[in-house]
Amino acid sequence: MISVTRKSHFNAAHRLHNTEWSDEKNDKFYGLCNNKNYHGHNYDLEVTVKGDIDPESGYLVDMKVLSNIIEENICSRFDHKNLNLDTSEFKNLIPTAENIAVVIWSILREKIDKKLELSIRLFETPRNFVEYSG
Ligand code: NI
Repeated sequence: MISVTRKSHFNAAHRLHNTEWSDEKNDKFYGLCNNKNYHGHNYDLEVTVKGDIDPESGYLVDMKVLSNIIEENICSRFDHKNLNLDTSEFKNLIPTAENIAVVIWSILREKIDKKLELSIRLFETPRNFVEYSG
C-alpha cells in the first residue's frame, strides 16, 4: 500500500460554546475559545489517501483531481467563514478541531474513490492537530 498526501489551508473563526451549559461553565471549560465575539485560526489540512498504484497510470490518485476536490468541497466552503454563524454544519455542532475533522472527512469520503482509504489531519495551531480516518 502506498499513500499520497495533499496539504491545504483555510482561515476560519469559531467559538466553542455548549448551549446546554451555563456561561460560567463554558467560560471555565473553554477559556479563551469561549470568547463571545469569536476568534480565528489558520487551519492546515492534510488529506491522505492510501491504496494501490494503478499500473496503467502509475498514480495512486491524480493530485490535480484530489486538490480540486479539497478546494471545491472544503476550502471554498470554510475559508474566511465564521464556522458557527456561516455554515450549516456547525449550527448545532460545536466547532472543535475534532468535530471539524469529522465533518471534513465525511464530506471528502463522499467525493473520493471508495477503493482508496482516507484519513485527514487538521492542524488548528502549528502544535495542535487532530487525525480522523472514519
Ligand atoms: Ni479556537
